[in-house]
Amino acid sequence: MSLDTLSAPPEKAKEAYRDYEKAGIDRIRQFYQTNHRYQTVDFVLEKKARWLGFNERAMSPWAALDFLNTLVDESDPDIELPQVVHLLQTAEAIRQDGHPDWFVLTGFLHDLGKVLCLFGEPQWAVVGDTFPVGCKHSDKVVFAEFFSDNPDSLDERYNNPLGMYAAGCGLDAVHLSWGHDEYLYHLLKPYLPIEALYMIRYHSFYAWHREGAYRHLTNAQDEANLRWVQAFNPYDLYSKNPNPPVMATLRPYYEDLMAKYLPSTLRF
Ligand SMILES: [Fe+2]
Ligand SMILES: [Fe+2]
Repeated sequence: MSLDTLSAPPEKAKEAYRDYEKAGIDRIRQFYQTNHRYQTVDFVLEKKARWLGFNERAMSPWAALDFLNTLVDESDPDIELPQVVHLLQTAEAIRQDGHPDWFVLTGFLHDLGKVLCLFGEPQWAVVGDTFPVGCKHSDKVVFAEFFSDNPDSLDERYNNPLGMYAAGCGLDAVHLSWGHDEYLYHLLKPYLPIEALYMIRYHSFYAWHREGAYRHLTNAQDEANLRWVQAFNPYDLYSKNPNPPVMATLRPYYEDLMAKYLPSTLRF
């Protein structure tokens, strides 16, 4: 065996992440074509009514993580690792930077809402970047050209900058496209601080936290918490390293952390 095979692989350059060209553009284009076509106001309201009653099943947080581990995210150009490995890498990178324990826990849980896929929801209704519905789609949203297939684009109630919202109403009053972020936000709302909840709820809302779009809808609370969403983002993106940390040795730490903040059973 050559020594080369024993050394760590070079770190991936930051520009190499979210590179849809390299990741198989067709797969991801197709994903967003479907997502942008079907994520309408009516669709989002229907999904909220379906899932935010949390009457699917009760599971311990660990059982939910084990369950999630059977899923690979189709929208993500950077990862073909099991979900729990991505969660562990994200959390460990946050922990190594000395952040508070609730921030580490947020890293460890932030994609847990993807269990919706395992409850039978299609990936285009669970993963990928999110965007507001009920107002004009920003061209800052990834693959914005596909919004031409969305019936809300032709609806006069929705196809102007404010649409169904008031200026400065705040993101809490804005319906984002349905997915794992919003679902997990509601599930964990009783247990985590507001900064953590912002990270969870808006981590896929790149048009806002990265591109600065939709500022006409945000309020002072959103603006104050934007920096937390932005602080979280590099850990989500750049800790996707092909050399995974080992769960078995880290498990006791995360068990204690979950026990500190979460009940022994969560309702999904
Ligand atoms: Fe996510
Ligand atoms: Fe993630």
